[in-house]
Amino acid sequence: MCGIVGYIGQEQAAPILLDGLKRLEYRGYDSAGVAVYNRETGTLSVRKAKGRLHVLAEQIHDGADLRGTVGVGHTRWATHGAPSDVNSHPQTSRSGKIAVVHNGIIENYAELKSFLISKGVPFASETDTEVVAQLIEYFYQGDLLSAVGRVLHRIQGAYALGILCADCPDQLIAVRKDSPLILGYGEGCSFLASDVTAILRRTRQVSYMEDGEIAVLTRTGIRCYDHLMQPVDKEIVQVDWDVDAAEKGGYEHFMFKEIMEQPEALRRCVSPRIRDGEVVFEDFCLSPEEIRALEKIYIVACGSSYHVGMVGKYHLERLTRKPVEVALASEFRYMDPIVSEKTLVIVISQSGETLDTMAALREARRRGGKILSIVNVVGSSIARESDQVLYTWAGPEIAVATTKAYSTQLAVICLLALYFGKLLGTIPPADYRSALEAFQALPEQVEQVLSRKDDIQYYASQYFNHDSVFFIGRNIDYALGLEGSLKLKEISYIHSEAYAAGELKHGTISLIEDGSLVVALAACPRLFPKTMSNVVEVKSRGASVLALTTEDRRAETGQIADGVFTIPGTCELLLPSLSVVPLQLFAYYVALMRGCDIDKPRNLAKSVTVE
Ligand code: F6R
Repeated sequence: MCGIVGYIGQEQAAPILLDGLKRLEYRGYDSAGVAVYNRETGTLSVRKAKGRLHVLAEQIHDGADLRGTVGVGHTRWATHGAPSDVNSHPQTSRSGKIAVVHNGIIENYAELKSFLISKGVPFASETDTEVVAQLIEYFYQGDLLSAVGRVLHRIQGAYALGILCADCPDQLIAVRKDSPLILGYGEGCSFLASDVTAILRRTRQVSYMEDGEIAVLTRTGIRCYDHLMQPVDKEIVQVDWDVDAAEKGGYEHFMFKEIMEQPEALRRCVSPRIRDGEVVFEDFCLSPEEIRALEKIYIVACGSSYHVGMVGKYHLERLTRKPVEVALASEFRYMDPIVSEKTLVIVISQSGETLDTMAALREARRRGGKILSIVNVVGSSIARESDQVLYTWAGPEIAVATTKAYSTQLAVICLLALYFGKLLGTIPPADYRSALEAFQALPEQVEQVLSRKDDIQYYASQYFNHDSVFFIGRNIDYALGLEGSLKLKEISYIHSEAYAAGELKHGTISLIEDGSLVVALAACPRLFPKTMSNVVEVKSRGASVLALTTEDRRAETGQIADGVFTIPGTCELLLPSLSVVPLQLFAYYVALMRGCDIDKPRNLAKSVTVE
């Protein structure tokens, strides 16, 4: 997704902006640009280039060509207008004296553009962002802040804006609505950024802008105002993320590094939440009475986070006997969902900034639901708008394809199912105890699975040339198959589908032919015989079958499947937490063998802040 960085200080701005943009590359983008104020000429120097950041960096000799100590930079992921030099940000006003970088979408841009064209304003790009730059200039009469204020009254949609004006080169303006923006405080300098990673090497003192706020950044500090232009005191927080944790370490890809980090991430996520044989959530937003009174649980999320919700539904319903509905966040808003004050809405998001998920959260709140979010990025928008946040503490996830965030989200939802089950008396005490013991063993068991990565690499070498792959399974294995299939398709570009094993025969089995690859997920013991009978069905139609099951079923499974990968035995609750690891590794190795851009798959972005 688009990235923003801005700097005002004593040093040359362009190299700092390029470095900040480099840290944001992981978000996914298709072009980049910078604007720097040149004091000698009194003008803005703007350079933009389609493609990777190094294209821009080479054009401006790593920033040396642009002289000036204040500027803004951007990496763009196209929404309005194709990826191109001219559509890249910064977008400028007709005179070139106002430059704007923008994340989000201006929903009424077409109407505003027609208005400006009718006033004789010429447009250079197809972007919604150019409307903002042009409109600021249209209203500008020597007071930049008031012109920005007038523009904010007219634009609708989601936006984080960084604004630089050649007439006021001793300030940068930042605006936020529904798209994250962070302010950074340095010695004799100030920063703005869409993501703290962009400025972490320069400052750890940051504040998070709230919706509707406007900030004026100068070399000596930052002033912040609310939407009525009343001054706001911002809390400055110290970010203690390890900078190296946001780098690749010794690994070839972030995705592999993050797969390997899962035992540690799980320890961080789980250990503090199991104390004296109990699941503990500090200051839980619902009282025991409120939990008992819940009539329904909704889980809303997108992509892999939604897949966590799919597994979570099976666990929560089994262990709490409360009805659970899982909804895609992008659908939730438009389906007139049945939510009341007796509904708990669990919102799952790694980034905490996914626009669809955020919109679903607000819709659920509007309808009276209690919001509990499971989020990785601390201080993110979703976290801040929830009644209760359960952080996953997975650490920064850089690869576009999620791995450790998925695993930790899953761990949190399993803990939640146990917590509710215990409180409601719907989980037998012995099952509760054994589940907690299994939880303690989980990180080590994940390590065991990871230590056998070469077996998965071998299977990947056997099957990486297949054009189409089916994942089948029942119940939690089916829900897991959704994630296995998504992982494979998003990074290896192989067509893949996940099916409930028993559903295949109702149509899709017609696609199975000699050489089709079916990944059969058969870890759930009570459904093992049923799933294996579906495996026989696809085998007899010519499919090659790679099966995933528990160690005790290896021999049996090996009699039918062409390849078997086993995971250690554990309670049903935690089977998906182990099974997902070989599926992540399989996708990774297949993509590697196909020469794909693993950390930045085509057309994808890490944080999807558009609808
Ligand atoms: C897939 C993936 C995406 C995200 C989805 C939601 O590997 O990462 O499907 O899960 O875009 O993102 P968050 O969890 O940040 O809301």
